[in-house]
Amino acid sequence: LKVEALEKLSKVSIKEELQELRVKYLGKKGPLTEILRGMGSLSAEERPLIGQVANDVRESIEQLVNEKLAYYEQQDTENRLRSETIDVTLAGRPSSQGAVHPLNKIVQEIEDIFIGMGYSIVEGPEVEQDYYNFEALNLPKDHPARDMQDSFYITEELLLRTQTSPIQVRTMEKMKGQPIKIISPGKVYRRDDDDVTHSHQFTQIEGLVVGRDIRMSDLKGTLLQFVQQLYGPDSQIRMRPSFFPFTEPSVELDVSCYYCKGAGCRTCKNTGWIEILGAGMVHPRVLEMAGYDPKEWSGFAFGMGPERVAMLKYGIDDIRHFYTNDVRFLNQFVHL
Ligand code: PHE
Repeated sequence: LKVEALEKLSKVSIKEELQELRVKYLGKKGPLTEILRGMGSLSAEERPLIGQVANDVRESIEQLVNEKLAYYEQQDTENRLRSETIDVTLAGRPSSQGAVHPLNKIVQEIEDIFIGMGYSIVEGPEVEQDYYNFEALNLPKDHPARDMQDSFYITEELLLRTQTSPIQVRTMEKMKGQPIKIISPGKVYRRDDDDVTHSHQFTQIEGLVVGRDIRMSDLKGTLLQFVQQLYGPDSQIRMRPSFFPFTEPSVELDVSCYYCKGAGCRTCKNTGWIEILGAGMVHPRVLEMAGYDPKEWSGFAFGMGPERVAMLKYGIDDIRHFYTNDVRFLNQFVHL
């Protein structure tokens, strides 16, 4: 039995076979168990002899089985280690990374330019009182200039702000009697049909400076500095007379269209100039209503649409690209 078992065991080549043989020789129904169970019927002299031999045989078989088991276990571990090794030289899967939206980027860029000139940033509510959005900006209830900005009214006295100019008034009320130098970025809403240049919701950045001796030349110098930082040091500006109820005089500001000189320029239609913002000297009535004596104080204000600024800077042909979040559009601005 011993010889047979050891021979079979030594020929074993897979773990399963080893288990089978172990059960066969050492299991409850195996020959050794049977012999040991039959000990009771043996004589007292035979018992230790047979017992000795049977135990001997069992020990030899167990020893070989255990050796083999250990061998297989080691093999298993080695296999597992081998299959789980990581190839550090393998090329990685690219992970997609988010980026700042081009509109936020241009807003930040504009903010940085003005922060560099000593301005602070002030925000205000998007749901605004008629008083701040219109009345305190010299646009009384039935003023025809309200037609310039079709509005979304919530109640008779509340609307979605059509411009960031109400922040001018709110800031002046708060700062009463102190100089002001702020810009206010934010969303604005108008009842426009959406097309390539119009959106019912867009962004504005308003600027306001109030002081003792603020002049039109300060406005011009500020805007020239801003434009040259944003569009390049060779950029020129041009002011054209315009109208806003809250500024007097009012101007529209054109920037030289240096990036598309000559024929075929769609952005400036070959005029060499492109309008980017509205501005003017704060109307004395606006100063007065907010608690600044116009005999002592003067100021300038300007307002621009960052979408438009970005469209001109990057040659974007449809304002709706900013809101539809098509990654093919967005990806073009990742590295700017
Ligand atoms: N708020 C004006 C607009 O939306 C722009 C503007 C702001 C003009 C400040 C002059 C001064 O059209």
